[in-house]
Amino acid sequence: MRTPIADFCREYSQQNKTRLHMPGHKGLGMLGVEALDLTEVKGADSLYEAEGIIAESEANAAKLFGSRRTFYSAGGSSQSIRAMCLLACQHWFSDYDETPLILAGRNAHKSFVQASQLIGFDVEWMASEEDYSLCRCAISPDGLEMHLERVMSEGRKVTAVYVTSPDYLGHVLDLRGLADVAHRFGTLLLVDNAHGAYLKFLPEDIHPMTLGADACADSAHKTLPVLTGGGYLHIGAGAPEGFEDTARDAMCLFGSTSPSYLVLQSLDLANDWIEKNAQTAFSETAERVDAVKAQMQSEGLVLMGDEPLKATVDCVASRVGSGLVFADRLRDFDIECEYADRDMVVLMFAPNNTNEDHEKLSIAVHMLMQVQKIMPESDPERPSFSNRLPERVLTPRDVLLHPTETIPVSDAEGRIAADVHIGCPPAVLPVVPGEKVDRNAVAVMDYYGIRSISVLKE
Ligand SMILES: Cc1ncc(COP(=O)(O)O)c(C=O)c1O
Repeated sequence: MRTPIADFCREYSQQNKTRLHMPGHKGLGMLGVEALDLTEVKGADSLYEAEGIIAESEANAAKLFGSRRTFYSAGGSSQSIRAMCLLACQHWFSDYDETPLILAGRNAHKSFVQASQLIGFDVEWMASEEDYSLCRCAISPDGLEMHLERVMSEGRKVTAVYVTSPDYLGHVLDLRGLADVAHRFGTLLLVDNAHGAYLKFLPEDIHPMTLGADACADSAHKTLPVLTGGGYLHIGAGAPEGFEDTARDAMCLFGSTSPSYLVLQSLDLANDWIEKNAQTAFSETAERVDAVKAQMQSEGLVLMGDEPLKATVDCVASRVGSGLVFADRLRDFDIECEYADRDMVVLMFAPNNTNEDHEKLSIAVHMLMQVQKIMPESDPERPSFSNRLPERVLTPRDVLLHPTETIPVSDAEGRIAADVHIGCPPAVLPVVPGEKVDRNAVAVMDYYGIRSISVLKE
């Protein structure tokens, strides 16, 4: 497959040009990659007005992912999530003169909440059908149907349904079923597929574009061999007409006007890698990870989630003590996990992991499980994570312009949340801006070690 962005940048870097343009490093510098780090010089195209090499490369990606159109993001899924919500709201406004309403799974990434603040759509949360973790929001097609019936019976119309699949812990939702229900009710299905770009290339293709989503956001960098920040906004075959016409403007609204050409080259080169290697590489990796998972289970670890390239250790069910301690023990073997909290440890695999990586993990797990009895038990007192949602006092957007102050979480009960200081991972909010912090929310934040919160000034 042609790689026009990478080819252009490589040729440019070899031409010994006098760079009287940005960036200031002029192609020289301390990282060693500066020569390839360009700006929108003649021939380099421009991400938000693409009609040259970037448009060609995006069209290649669309073919590989089976989307109607694919747009690159140099700002990860965060940028694509905000843009996808805007597209749904713009489409909505063409038919209705009302505030758009998005029905969303409560484990939404912070960028979705920020989208509601920036765009001004209203959010109705769907609580998880299983209450186990802040990061999980189980939503079945039947459950979605009940939510839609309830909201519509109140005379409200739903602009779009928004779900996260796979979630941080590797749970995959029944997207085909959810898309069918959403479409039957005349609404759209938007998917945060940040963790699932690779799902397209498994022996069974379970990418949201294949399963009927109208749009989805993929972090290419999370599971494909792509630099951090590289992502896609995919528009599905059944999406409303015109989505692609305003997609670039929507992406531009939420991104820098100087997207990184290193990231764009990385996305471009990934197309060629995908075409040549992805099917084989991902099915072989899935097999190797299956073997690692089987060994972990035979050693007594309980795993959760159904995503093929994630192994999520349920430390509570495994009775190995806190996930934070378990992650530290893995560090003793020079293994760094993706994410750990009191209950779980998430390990992410990709084709670039070597056999040695897999073997090292096997040895570490075997040795750790010999000494597991000396690890303290996890605290059995667990708050409710997503079934008891705090009372909403203001919309997230209403909160945006209010004066705020940062206070300890222990003093926050009764106050209205403006922002929760929870970084990524997992960047899922226990209390959303505009909600009143209740005792359970304090307990959840305490459970996750969140010490401070921004609240509205009284
Ligand atoms: C579920 C989920 N959605 C969205 C994002 C945002 O993705 P990005 O970091 O590519 O902007 C993340 C980041 O970790 C995530 O875990």
